[in-house]
Amino acid sequence: MMNPGRQIYEWLDERLGISRVILPVIEHPVPRGVDWWYVFGSATLVAFIFQIITGVALAMAYVPAPISAYDSLTFITNVAVLGSLIRGIHYWGASAMVILIFVHLAHELLAGSYKFPRELNWLTGVFLLFLTLGMAFTGQLLRWDQNAYWAVVVAAEQAGRTPLIGNWLTQLVIAGQTVGGATLTRFYATHVFLIPALMFLLLGIHLYLVVHLGISEPPKAGQPVDPATYMERYHKLLEEEGEPFFPDAVWKDVVFALAVGVVVVALAIFVGPAKLGALADPTIIQADPRPDWYFLWYFALLALIPPSVENVFIIGFPALVAILMIVLPFVANKGERSPARRPWAVGIVVIAALSIAVLVQQGELAPWSPNFSPEPIPASITDRLSPSARLGEAVFDAKGCHDCHMVAGTGGQRGPDLTHIGSTLTRPQLISRIMNGGTNMPAFAGNISPQDLSNLVDFLQSLK
Ligand code: HEC
Repeated sequence: MMNPGRQIYEWLDERLGISRVILPVIEHPVPRGVDWWYVFGSATLVAFIFQIITGVALAMAYVPAPISAYDSLTFITNVAVLGSLIRGIHYWGASAMVILIFVHLAHELLAGSYKFPRELNWLTGVFLLFLTLGMAFTGQLLRWDQNAYWAVVVAAEQAGRTPLIGNWLTQLVIAGQTVGGATLTRFYATHVFLIPALMFLLLGIHLYLVVHLGISEPPKAGQPVDPATYMERYHKLLEEEGEPFFPDAVWKDVVFALAVGVVVVALAIFVGPAKLGALADPTIIQADPRPDWYFLWYFALLALIPPSVENVFIIGFPALVAILMIVLPFVANKGERSPARRPWAVGIVVIAALSIAVLVQQGELAPWSPNFSPEPIPASITDRLSPSARLGEAVFDAKGCHDCHMVAGTGGQRGPDLTHIGSTLTRPQLISRIMNGGTNMPAFAGNISPQDLSNLVDFLQSLK
């Protein structure tokens, strides 16, 4: 009599092809000497799976509408069982995934793994990177607090400055003219349906290719890739000194993924999820519209380049980088893979990593962000104000003007210095400026009483 476990296995095997298809995949040979640099791809996958699990859990309680999003997150964080932990894992896991996918990419670039026959591995990987960044961007707004809200307002304004397609692009991103309920719905649907669906599709292709073509052997100087002979050499290498992925090679991936998991959970427990700022309020500009770190470097870059080229650069620069990444495996799919023989590849990775580090740090300080606790305007100015201008000065502080504008050496540097604005702009010009705002200045029409406006303009006019 056959044992029942065996019978069940054979029943399933006949239908699923476990021994014919699945086992050979799990046990497929990989080149010996695959080192710790190879673990970043699988760790990215594990991070992605954890983002899905925690994301689904969050979606069970998150209500994606402006009146409820913030409250539902407060509920998740403070009341729901394990809510804070799950939000924390989702938050830190996102950072982990972005770091892992970048290191994975850097390794494949350094090791020349995008060369023949793995051009499509690279291409699907590059699109997975774009989608991961899309997840990071759409996720931030879902917090629906002041910082998240204003970060998207700033991003939308920047997108709006793209030549030709700016308006259309802004409308596409924020689903209308202003950031509001429709924007939240659009970001939510993009974050939970659209991008994940595309990621599953690309990931399926990416993993299929990894198994079908086999992972690239560690590069050796003096062994250039020649499409005519590569496959033959690779298969010989596997036959001579390959080892099965499971159980021989997989332990490094498991150890590393566990280590990442421990770090993420520890951060979720001891540091916790992103702090929720004040509820998003389009009428209050008291916000620190700093994007989460993954985009901070780019915003810092925008703050540092000359304003005249900014409009072209905003979309032009990421588009250029994207195009270079896409064409890379097609223009350079042969030749040496070893980093020792490819100084330009090493140079690009080192320079990119250093610039991003410096820019993230600069982004923390860059004046594109308002200053929320400006020093008071000095007495030398306030002492000679008329009574109405004095009231206007209070409005200037209360409405957040001072956070963006310098007056006599105090205040933020987001907008122009207004110390002498009374001698350059007339009363109607000032009013029109305040009511209509500008590319990087909110419009105050409907958000300031006529009396406050009149006092404010009295104040500005006395700045000569
Ligand atoms: C979020 C930051 C921000 C806030 C808040 C802000 N501004 Fe501005 N402001 C700017 C920027 C940036 C400009 C530069 C032009 C542009 O981007 O439209 C500007 C331009 C101006 C100008 C025109 C200056 C010139 O030299 O042409 C005036 C006047 C002005 N702001 C007044 C105000 C007043 C008054 C308030 C408060 C009611 C205010 N701003 C609030 C960012 C801000």
